[in-house]
Order: sequence, then C-alpha cells, then structure tokens
Amino acid sequence: TKAWRGVIEEYRDRLPVTADTPVITLLEGGTPLLPAPRLSQLTGCDVHLKVEGSNPTGSFKDRGMTLAISRAAEEGAKAVICASTGNTAAAAAAYAVRAGMVCAVLVPQGKIAMGKLAQALVHGARLLQVDGNFDDCLELARKLSADYPVALVNSVNRYRLEGQKTAAFEIVDTFGAAPDVHCLPVGNAGNISAYWMGYQEYDTRPRMLGFQAAGAAPIVRGEPVLAPQTIATAIRIGYPASWDLAIRARDESGGAIEAVTDRQILAAYRLLAREEGVFVEPASAASVAGLLQARDEDLVRPGERVVCTVTGHGLKDPDWAISGAPAPLTVPVDAHAAASALELT
Ligand code: F0G
Repeated sequence: TKAWRGVIEEYRDRLPVTADTPVITLLEGGTPLLPAPRLSQLTGCDVHLKVEGSNPTGSFKDRGMTLAISRAAEEGAKAVICASTGNTAAAAAAYAVRAGMVCAVLVPQGKIAMGKLAQALVHGARLLQVDGNFDDCLELARKLSADYPVALVNSVNRYRLEGQKTAAFEIVDTFGAAPDVHCLPVGNAGNISAYWMGYQEYDTRPRMLGFQAAGAAPIVRGEPVLAPQTIATAIRIGYPASWDLAIRARDESGGAIEAVTDRQILAAYRLLAREEGVFVEPASAASVAGLLQARDEDLVRPGERVVCTVTGHGLKDPDWAISGAPAPLTVPVDAHAAASALELT
C-alpha cells in the first residue's frame, strides 16, 4: 500500500487544479471511518464516525484549506484572511506557513476555544479579536479582501467547498457505496453543502441530515439569528454564508435540518468520549445528538447505514472535559494508599 498523499493528489482529477498549481499540503484527509458499536446498539442502525479531528490541524477545515491556499499561491497571493470561530483560523494559519504567506484572522472576542487560539498564535497569524460575533467578522473579512491585497479563504471561496467534498469521496470509496443517511453539524453551512457536492459527483444520494444548535438555528427558524448563543462555539453562527446551498442539499437529498439543544450536544459529547473512545469538540457532537433525535422521530430507521461526521478534535476545547469532572485525588507515594484511592482493594 502507498502512503496517503493529501486530498489534492488523491483526488486530483476531480478538483479544480492543473499541473501548474503548486500543491500546498500537510497530507490532510484519509481520516478514519470508524465503526461506532455503542451508537449502533442504541439506534439499531449501522453507525460509523468520520473522524475529522484526525486531520493535521485537528478539523475538517484542512481539506478545504489545502485547495484554497494552493490556488491563492498559484494566483500570486502574498497574504490571506479569514473570519473564524477558530478552526478555519487554525487551518489557514498552518497552511499559510507552508505557502510562505501572511495570514490574518478575525475572531469573535472571547468566543473561541483556547486550543484554536493557541494554534493561530503558534503558527504566527496576525490575529484580531473583533468586538462582535462570527457574522460581523465575516462581513469585515469580505470588506478587507475587497479593498486590500489579501485573499479571502472563508468557505465563500469556492475552492474551500471543492476541497471539503473529498470527505464524501473517501466514504464512498471505503464502503463501495454511499450510506443511507449522513449526519453533520451545521454552522456556516459550507460542509453539508460540500459533502452533498461530493456525493452527487459520485452519483450517490444519501439523505443529508444537518443539525444546528438550538440557540443558533437560523436555517431551522427560517430567519437570521442576530444574537446566536450556544456552548458549541464553532457553530455559533446566525447568518450562514452557504444557507441556500444547505437548503438545496437538504431538499434534493430528501433530508432535514433540525435543531439540537446544548444539553443534547453535551450528552452526545460525553457518550462519544465514554462509550466510543472518541474525543471531539462540542460542535462535532451535534451530528450524533442529531442522529439520536432523528432516530426518536423515526426520520432514520433501524438497519440503515449512517455516517456521522465528527468535525473537530476534543483537545481544541478541553474546558468542557474538565468542568463537571471530579477533581483528581492526590496520594502519597504509597501503593496501599493508591490502591485504595483507585478502589482496587
Ligand atoms: N464543526 C466544527 C468543529 C467547526 O469548526 C465548524 C465550523 C462546523 C462544525 C460547521 O461547519 O460552518 O461548514 O457548517 N467552523 C467555522 C470556523 C465556522 O470558523 O472554523 P460549517
């Protein structure tokens, strides 16, 4: 078997690149499609997790960023900019390093997880905390890219979705067919649109189920949410850029976009960690919370094959793992004391 070459080389003939495009890659993609025995038992379905936290910067954003940065490099860009709830910023910062570009990122002040902030900083991004939410940051990034010499690498850049569609290719290539149902968290609504693009290019048609956080559910409500709220900061978005594409993915696939509460998200987050051995960030657990809800509503039926994309690694936002857990006990260097603290006696 050959080593994985990153999504551009693996799927070159299905991506908008030419022989002249410089390939800026961290060898993203090729992520695990992991059987989920506990979720399968709970739902009666055949459930797999597409574990996107295994990408180089710990989220699915790397798939789109390899393409967006490669094309920006081809076009001679010296600097890129993005608005972000954290993961896009981390990916843009890392890929910009590989391309020798300056990376500017705009994040909502106080509303991005610590690990993601650390990633943007360690890769040397020019980071501004904006006194506003993600939607304000995106508007500002669009204006700056229109008026200054800096390329926008948010998912409104079409190369981002082109890169992200490769996750659907990997799933069909692994199973030899599409699943019956595909569950995803929905924030700016790019990823659900990208998967649908990928499935369609493979002539497959799983039902696409998208899940927004209840306090940030503009597509479910049918109108923008001015002050979105959720503990899942990655999807704290009130006016998604790919709104129309996501609705098309929903309707053309015979799927649905629903809301899940923060309580449901945290329950799924803990279930994934404690019963599947998979540590994801809270937003990622919305896909699994959504599957459990959809099963209750009989939107998904027993025996169906389901893939849930878990979009980002748990270490990006460790606060939720630590809060609520009992503080570790301290013991002397003494086997008896340790054994009794561990309840081994
Ligand atoms: N899950 C995670 C971990 C994310 O970071 C995001 C989006 C989503 C799900 C939702 O995907 O926006 O394509 O619907 N994060 C963006 C960011 C907004 O800035 O990192 P979407």
